[in-house]
Amino acid sequence: MNWEEVRSEARRKLGKLCVVCPVCNGVACAGQMPGMGGLGTGASFKNNVAALAAYRLNMRTLHEVAEPDLRVRLFGRELALPVLGAAIAGANLNLNGALSEEELAWAMLAGARAAGSLAMVGDGPDPAVWRAGLAALARAEGQGIAIAKPRPLADVVALARQAADQGAVAFGVDVDAAGILMMRRAGQPVGPKPPAELRQLVTALPLPLILKGIMTADEAEVAAEAGAAGIVVSNHGGRSLDHLPGTAEVLPEIAATVKGRLIILADGGVRAGVDVLKMLALGADAVLVGRPLAIAAVGGGAEGVALAFSRLADELRTAMVLTACPSPAAASPSLLRI
Ligand SMILES: Cc1cc2nc3c(=O)[nH]c(=O)nc-3n(C[C@H](O)[C@H](O)[C@H](O)COP(=O)(O)O)c2cc1C
Repeated sequence: MNWEEVRSEARRKLGKLCVVCPVCNGVACAGQMPGMGGLGTGASFKNNVAALAAYRLNMRTLHEVAEPDLRVRLFGRELALPVLGAAIAGANLNLNGALSEEELAWAMLAGARAAGSLAMVGDGPDPAVWRAGLAALARAEGQGIAIAKPRPLADVVALARQAADQGAVAFGVDVDAAGILMMRRAGQPVGPKPPAELRQLVTALPLPLILKGIMTADEAEVAAEAGAAGIVVSNHGGRSLDHLPGTAEVLPEIAATVKGRLIILADGGVRAGVDVLKMLALGADAVLVGRPLAIAAVGGGAEGVALAFSRLADELRTAMVLTACPSPAAASPSLLRI
């Protein structure tokens, strides 16, 4: 399957929920939730793409960086590139039932693994969503990260134990889902996590904790002080609250506060190798990609996801050569024209 075939197959299967735009920027799908859009006006999703586009790269070609090393070490694993698959759940509602929940989670995990990386599995209002992610994680021999909703403490700990039993690499909570109405309506309460509860969580967990959905430097500091292993600078792809800034806009101040104290992942609007490099230059240790990989999963299953990863790797390698960046760890603001 080539890339165009993957995309046209996805377009056919997704119907009106996602028209697979040339650049996935949140314009055509604004407000489409359930679906692939951003919440409300879609501003938070669009701001992610716009914030990344606003940064420009400094091109440098008089140097020795001909073969950059894309590898990174995260959570004790070596990844072939600094890109992971984001958690995408709700195949029925959001992806037009184009594939089952477990097929979606499996395609993300297996495609990422084939590319030498990892993906995340998610959680949702129907407990079957978590179970499907867990089943896919078991099939992938634990090579992935499970992200649970910010449920009551005891429930989160129980879910983390289930993920640990499958051998998961790490466990996260998408704290930006604290206000999701669909969870409440389904009798699955979620809410914000006070610092004291975070500390209890870190102590009780059998796996390193990732807090996904951090958008301010003060809360990144809270995460570091609570003992989290990592954060994801994320606005949930613009699906948690309208009118949030783009993640690339807030990443520098967050990195200035916690870089080196915990793993900084960032997501939102990463569409090409240059976007990955920009996030690294702004302070991320690695990035997550959401919708483009979900679209690839719909169009080509695990093979489609692996193809998307390999395109990102090729683009990133080219961008690193043309900016004299030898490795992800070496990326710094000097790559950007600020
Ligand atoms: C359809 C859909 C479902 C999602 N489900 C989850 C989820 O279950 N858990 C989670 O932490 N994030 C979830 N997210 C957010 C993604 O993990 C990620 O933060 C976001 O999609 C990144 O932005 P991008 O799609 O622009 O790359 C979902 C996003 C979409 C579009």
